[in-house]
Order: sequence, then C-alpha cells, then structure tokens
Amino acid sequence: MKSAVIKNWDNKTWLSSYNYIKSFNKFLSKNTKFRSNSKILDIGCGRGKIIGDLSSQLNLKIKPIGIDLINHIDKDKRIKFIKKDALSFFMNNKQKFDLILIKQTIHLLSLNSIKKLVNECKKNLNTDGKIFIFTLDPFKNEIPSFELMKKKLKRSLQRDKMILKFLSQLDSSKNSKKFFYKVKITKKKYLKMIQNRFISTLLPMTKKQISNGIKEIDLKFNKILKFNDNLICIILKKN
Ligand SMILES: C[S@@+](CC[C@H](N)C(=O)[O-])C[C@H]1O[C@@H](n2cnc3c(N)ncnc32)[C@H](O)[C@@H]1O
Repeated sequence: MKSAVIKNWDNKTWLSSYNYIKSFNKFLSKNTKFRSNSKILDIGCGRGKIIGDLSSQLNLKIKPIGIDLINHIDKDKRIKFIKKDALSFFMNNKQKFDLILIKQTIHLLSLNSIKKLVNECKKNLNTDGKIFIFTLDPFKNEIPSFELMKKKLKRSLQRDKMILKFLSQLDSSKNSKKFFYKVKITKKKYLKMIQNRFISTLLPMTKKQISNGIKEIDLKFNKILKFNDNLICIILKKN
C-alpha cells in the first residue's frame, strides 16, 4: 500500500490536545457500547494518544492496538503499537475487534486498497463490532489555508467526496455522523504547523511555496484563529 509520510499531524497540535482527545472520545463513547474487555484497533494511529486516552477512560483490560507506518518515539505507552502497513497487519492477525478506528487516514490510500482494507476490517470484527472511518468533511471545510494550499486541498476534498461515495457503494447499510471541534489557536502556533507540514496537502510543496504560504497567512489572519474542524464519520458493521 503506497502512502505519504506524515510526521507532524499530531505533534503538539490541537489534534493531540487534551480537549480535542476528550471531545473525540466522548463522540466515540456516545456511538459505541464499550465494555472493559472491548478490543480496539486504530489503523494509522499516529502517536496513538486517542486510543491511549480511551484505554484509561474505559479501564480496558486489553491494550488497544495501534498500527502505523511511522514509529514515533513519543507514542502513547498505553497502547500496543505495531509498525505495519494496514493491509499487511491483517495478513497475520488472528484477533477479532469490537472497534476498528480509521481516522483521517483513508484518503491516503488508493481506492483498490480501501476496498481491500474495508473487507479485511469486516472479516476481523466481532459480531456486533463497528468500523469508524473519519475524514475531513469535504462539504464543510474551514481549515485556514493560503491560496495554493486551498487549491490543493480542494482537489483532495474532491477525491474525499469520491471516497465517501465509494464507501457507501461498498456498504449500503452504512451510517454517517458528523464530528466537529471548535479550534482556537494562535496564529504563531498555526504557522508552526504549516512549517511542519502537518497536513498531507503540504507534503509535496517546495520550501519556497511553504514560506510564501506562511507570509500569506500571516497577512490574512488575526493573531488568534478560530474555526471548526469538521469531520464526517462513516460507521460500518460486519454485514
Ligand atoms: C493524518 S494522520 C492521522 C493520525 C491519527 N489517526 C489522528 O487522526 O490523529 C495519518 C496517519 O496514517 C498513517 N498511515 C498512512 N498510510 C498508512 C498505511 N498504509 N498503513 C498504516 N498507517 C498509515 C500515517 O503514517 C499517519 O500517521
């Protein structure tokens, strides 16, 4: 499975903040019946802070498993981390899960890989298990952007719309929900995130394009940035 290398997504950003994680896990808990022996798998877990917090909150008996292509040194200690590509993980897996989380990772995969991955996830679910796939809401994106970033983001959100359509064709019984988080961040911190190329759209840009983008955002926005981080959540069941 071919993928880009995203190192700074949850590196001290709002996406790894205490409030974001609490609010995200509240959403998961509202939409899932967790037990203390629930088995959780997070595909593309990054630093694993979300399922780490979930594990503490639910007092899970079994450590949740997080898989990612990148093994961060500051990953969460409350998870069992496996450095693997999503599809290769399932080649040797013998466990069944109650929740499989794929958060802001599906857009990095090809349609063919998505199809294979959804099939594998379904096969590896417990009878009443669920797959939660989160992706940026392509119909309501508010991520502050400079012109080039906006152009590239628009293209990537077009593809996300196609992925959402593809997922509903794969499973007509799917359920969809919305999750949003009110972000309040200093421009200084956000510019650092841009510099660190936190989002995949920024990865292929040249140094010059990033530094021009930083100048543009600096001119365009006030000292404090306020916006909603809007996600769509697709919930799939075993069958
Ligand atoms: C945008 S980040 C999201 C991280 C985390 N899920 C979150 O929402 O905070 C995408 C993550 O997916 C990982 N990833 C990309 N392709 C992958 C693959 N084929 N198998 C496993 N992980 C992958 C990346 O390394 C990255 O950590």
